[in-house]
Parts: sequence; structure tokens; C-alpha cells
Amino acid sequence: MRFDWTDQGTPTVEAARCTGCGLCTRLCPDQMFQLENGKAQVVAGSFLGCIACGHCVAGCPTGCITVRGRGMTGDDALPLPPKDTQASADQLRTLMLTRRSIRRFTAEPVDRAALDQILEAATTAPMGIPPSDVGVLVFHGRDRVQAFSEDACAAFARLGWLLHPVTLTLMRPLLGKENHRAMRDFVRPLLQALVAERAAGRDDFTYDAPAAMLFHYGPESDGADAHIAATYAMLMAESLGLGSCMLGTTAGLSHDKQFKQKYGVPPKNKFGLGLVLGHPQEVFRRGIRRRLADVRFA
Ligand SMILES: Cc1cc2nc3c(=O)[nH]c(=O)nc-3n(C[C@H](O)[C@H](O)[C@H](O)COP(=O)(O)O)c2cc1C
Repeated sequence: MRFDWTDQGTPTVEAARCTGCGLCTRLCPDQMFQLENGKAQVVAGSFLGCIACGHCVAGCPTGCITVRGRGMTGDDALPLPPKDTQASADQLRTLMLTRRSIRRFTAEPVDRAALDQILEAATTAPMGIPPSDVGVLVFHGRDRVQAFSEDACAAFARLGWLLHPVTLTLMRPLLGKENHRAMRDFVRPLLQALVAERAAGRDDFTYDAPAAMLFHYGPESDGADAHIAATYAMLMAESLGLGSCMLGTTAGLSHDKQFKQKYGVPPKNKFGLGLVLGHPQEVFRRGIRRRLADVRFA
């Protein structure tokens, strides 16, 4: 579903099944429901109109509300698993603390069913404003991941002009001091190293993984959408016993028409995070304490 500002969601209430409980009037962030004669009625919203967030559909006790448009169809309400199957805070913390970035994988392939579960997890991620304009390229099997790695490194090599010190100096006023330094002293040498390693027959980009995903997003959506979707995917992979590692270098592919063309990605889309996936070779025995740079209750 491509993002379109002009598309509106259209909520419908099946009056015969509406009990007039009024929950939809409280759940809708845009106040698109009012009770009239004991039944919910759809009215003009207060701000954006219906953005198809789905709150009314998810909350309605009788299931009498449907939303169509802006990415939703009439049958998007899913039964929720029983509450007692929800991960506890301890279980979730264990999952998060146990997860490490995995860069060495066994030769065992990743099941297609696992990839489907991971993709389904990504569809549950929040987005700045619905519908999601996040796309995913899935590379299933070591050969396909290697082809992706080869194509990506070729694209990084073509980026040489953009990251050339002269170009970067010219772009410094736009980039700002910190970004300019990061491009010059980190991104450029890193991409150059990936290209050189690839030429030497080593895969320091996708780490010989048996599966990979590459998240991209449309020009009018928030890049954070793709990052959050990738994060949800990563956590689901972890819960399925798969190791994963995010790839930030994939953002560089946003500037390469040839790569986008080959993989059918719209020219104006940008690449967010990549995710390599597979069965971990090594087992970790301890978690690592990390600290946020700054926390204050202001
Ligand atoms: C935005 C982002 C980009 C990343 N890019 C890469 C990458 O290109 N290559 C890589 O090997 N690891 C990459 N990583 C993984 C980090 O290096 C890793 O998360 C970090 O070292 C902390 O280790 P942990 O994930 O095991 O806690 C990335 C992680 C994030 C969040």
C-alpha cells in the first residue's frame, strides 16, 4: 500500500449490532464517532479525519465497526491470543537481554515459515501515520544473500564520487560539522573496506548469512517506520531461536538507481536497516549492561 495523504479511511457502523456502549467515541483519536439515539454514528473528525489507525475496530465489543481505505479492508480485525499467553515483563526482558548481534552463522538454512513469522511481526509495528509505506526485500538462501551482498558492494563502489573528500567538503554546509566528519572518517572508510573485503572474497557486509531482509520506506513516510519494523522483526527472529544483526550501511543504497531498479524498489524510496538472519554459530553466556547517554526526569 503506497502512502497517500489524500486517501481517507471510511468507518462504517452496523447499527443493528451497535449496543451504544460509546467506547468508539472515546477510542477514536480524531473524535469521529458520536452517540445518537443510543447508537454510534460516524461524524466529521476534529483534525485529520480517519487515518485508519484501527482503534475503533480493535475496541468495539460487538465487532460492528469496519474501516475501509487507507490500507484497511473490511476484514482486518484479528482475534487476539488469550491474555495469559502474552509475554511477561520477565520473559520480554530475557529475550532482549539475551539478544546479541550475530555475525557468524551455521550452514543451517532458515525456514520459510520462520521468515513469514518475522515478516508478520514487522506488520505489527507502529508507524508515524497509517498506512505503512515500509517495504521489505527478502533474500532467502545463502546464494540470494550473496547476490544481494555483491550488488550492494558494487553500489557502494559507485558511491565513491558522493563520498569523495572534495564532494564532502562542498556539502559540508548542508551536512553540518558532525555529519561531515562522520561521512569522511567513518562511512567512507567503512564502505571502502566492505568493497575491498568483497573483492578479496570475504563477506563483511552480510556475514555469509543464510537469510537477509532489507527495509525501505516511501518518500512521504518517516524513516523511523522502517527502523521500528526492522526492530520488531529482529525481536521475533530472536524468539524463534535465530540470530540477527542490523545493517546500517544499507542506507547508502538509497543513492543508487541501479540497485533499486534491479530489485524493483521505487526510485524515491530510501533504504532503512538491513537485517541478516541465521542460526548462530556461537552461544553467549552473559548479558552486557549498557547505559543510555542521558536519562533525566525533567
Ligand atoms: C542502526 C544500527 C546500524 C547497525 N549497522 C551495523 C552494520 O552495518 N554492521 C554490523 O556489523 N553491525 C551493525 N549494527 C549492529 C551494532 O554494531 C550492534 O547492535 C552493537 O555493536 C551492539 O551490539 P549488540 O547488538 O550485540 O547489543 C547496527 C546496529 C544498529 C542499531
